Amino acid sequence: GTKLQIAIDGPASAGKSTVAKKVAHLLDYIYCDTGAMYRAVTWAALQKNVSLDDDVALKELLSGLKITFKPTATEQKVFVNGQDVTEAIRLPLISQNVSTVAAQVSVREALTKQQQNLALNGGIVMDGRDIGTTVLPAAEVKIFLVASVKERALRRYREDQAKGIRITLADLEKEIALRDKKDSNRLISPLVQAEDAVKLDTTSLTIEQVVTKIMEIIKKSK
Ligand code: C5P
Repeated sequence: GTKLQIAIDGPASAGKSTVAKKVAHLLDYIYCDTGAMYRAVTWAALQKNVSLDDDVALKELLSGLKITFKPTATEQKVFVNGQDVTEAIRLPLISQNVSTVAAQVSVREALTKQQQNLALNGGIVMDGRDIGTTVLPAAEVKIFLVASVKERALRRYREDQAKGIRITLADLEKEIALRDKKDSNRLISPLVQAEDAVKLDTTSLTIEQVVTKIMEIIKKSK
């Protein structure tokens, strides 16, 4: 059958990557976590002492960066110039700084182009903030996942605990709310629901329920 482009957007920690990965697996599609790409650039900028809001310096940095993904049985590994950064890009320092880097025009241009190339032939589930609005405006399926800040902080708290990342629930709530605010208010490709996206509130749904709903939406669009 036809290989679709499926865009899943929404605020921080709404469960996008978890369900996107499952949907991609069910359809035998590629999964692309665009947030991991912005996190990888932030990681590299911090490593190289590049100012996080210096558009010119970031452009230079990007020209020497190769971000790649490698799916494994349990997770999708992320590499920067061959170095495994899968764990490093999830640390609080990166979460606190990524929105600044993601607001820079050179960074958005470079990553958007890479994302569009990955999606050229369809057969892809891509999650992020601007996939349905900017990266893949012609995507056949667009989902906008939301959940209350409290629920999202709680989900992240449990994930972080399991990974051994030490952060309080209150700090997570603050970080998530602040990141949403920055992502929604930036000038270029802000976080906003595409007009033709289907909104799904996952606050009181399980992962499986969300996946089932998305699969139903996909079936209808085929
Ligand atoms: O999805 P995740 O929470 O890992 O994304 C990290 C950050 O990357 C977001 O808070 C946002 O600043 C940026 N981002 C973006 N556009 C995307 C995906 C992520 O600006 N398509």
